[in-house]
Amino acid sequence: MKKAFVRSYGCQMNAYDAARMADVLGQQGYAATDSVEEADVVILNTCHIREKAAEKVYSELGRLRVLKGERKRAGQDTRIVVAGCVAQAEGAEILARAPAVDVVVGPQSYHRLPLLLDQSRAGRVVDTEFPAEDKFDHLPTRRSKGVSAFLTVQEGCDKFCAFCVVPYTRGAEVSRSVASVVAEARKLAEAGVRELTLIGQNVNAYHGESLTGGAAATLTDLIRAVAAIPGIARIRYTTSHPNDMGDDLIRAHAEIPGLMPYLHLPVQSGSDRVLAAMNRKHTGDQYRRLIERIRAARPDIALSSDFIVGFPGETDAEFEETMRLVAEIGFQSAFSFKYSPRPGTPAAAREDAVPESVKSERLAALQGLLDRQRHAYQNAAAGQVTDVLVEKTGRHPGQVAGKTPHMLAVQFDAPASTIGSIVAVRIVEAGTNSLFGEMAPQIAAA
Ligand code: 5AD
Ligand code: SF4
Repeated sequence: MKKAFVRSYGCQMNAYDAARMADVLGQQGYAATDSVEEADVVILNTCHIREKAAEKVYSELGRLRVLKGERKRAGQDTRIVVAGCVAQAEGAEILARAPAVDVVVGPQSYHRLPLLLDQSRAGRVVDTEFPAEDKFDHLPTRRSKGVSAFLTVQEGCDKFCAFCVVPYTRGAEVSRSVASVVAEARKLAEAGVRELTLIGQNVNAYHGESLTGGAAATLTDLIRAVAAIPGIARIRYTTSHPNDMGDDLIRAHAEIPGLMPYLHLPVQSGSDRVLAAMNRKHTGDQYRRLIERIRAARPDIALSSDFIVGFPGETDAEFEETMRLVAEIGFQSAFSFKYSPRPGTPAAAREDAVPESVKSERLAALQGLLDRQRHAYQNAAAGQVTDVLVEKTGRHPGQVAGKTPHMLAVQFDAPASTIGSIVAVRIVEAGTNSLFGEMAPQIAAA
């Protein structure tokens, strides 16, 4: 049997695409493998968001070139595919830089992989089109394994933050129809999925065709439709822009029991001047007021965010405003990055770059504060009884692992038969990355 190896970098949308590419190859008779040495097709699903992520691909391709040569000497063919956002952004340039690559395919064309692999036998191919046909209509049924699954509902971004390549690599915002999302969600539920994370580059700007074909549905409408599917117990969504947090979505956090009390809402900076230069179109105080409204609807909501330090021109005082915002709001978790200039973005043309050493200092200070907040949040969970959706077996024999509604990872002793159920767990101890608990006497309604 032919084997395919898929490695994904970057965001959850890429993880979703990687799984769907594996489905496409599965339909062609390829078995998935974790060992790159035995793969007949190797796919690197790449990320272009920061320079480091993009450059990683080329070092990986260097190693693959050697492997491909070794396999060839052993009489085995290896097709090497570069997919994802580097593929979209750099296209044919990849062929020039990396001689081992056979196929370059963008995020909107990977349903054509079988055809592209065939064509590559006659010569290297690049497909970075935004095709007229909808890839979702051409993808095979999902072979889902697992209890918690991602589901792409929206792609692209119209926001054009000054630092970000996404509007260029992923294009304009496009939403799938409610019918298409619900059909995929039903299949996942039938395959045992209990938790769905609806994903999109700007998911709360979702505006897909509604079931009645009338006015476009909002993300709230979509969440209600998905929540009604038998078997789906938990819903999450990511990632969102503050300016698209409509009143209906805020209310949904109070009204829809399956919608989990966790929200990833990137703010990037606490300084109004930097936010304006980033073209975020909101101020620090607008973000604070939005969080107040969300907390009024759902007081226990856990918040997460993204931050960039060292955006061109950021002063020490402006960075301190980010620290102040973090201290005031209190995040359960967050991602923080040093600003990385990306080709083609407006910020990349600026000449007031912040020195690397200053970026490093600011990042360390911010991550220190965010880490303290994360630990405080984890420690506060000790002693509480909470629902845990059991996802998999745990680190040690006899243990299982799952997540609380607030996205905290928990390990506890229970039989593997609990996988897929929601179990009441008493949190005994908070570790660094995980909580440890014991099954509480009552089992919550699963
Ligand atoms: N440099 C650093 N971080 C970036 N992000 C996006 N573009 C850049 C960049 N050029 C971060 C933002 C975004 C997250 C997905 O990646 O914080 O929310
Ligand atoms: Fe990039 Fe801004 Fe769009 Fe997010 S909202 S994908 S940071 S342009």
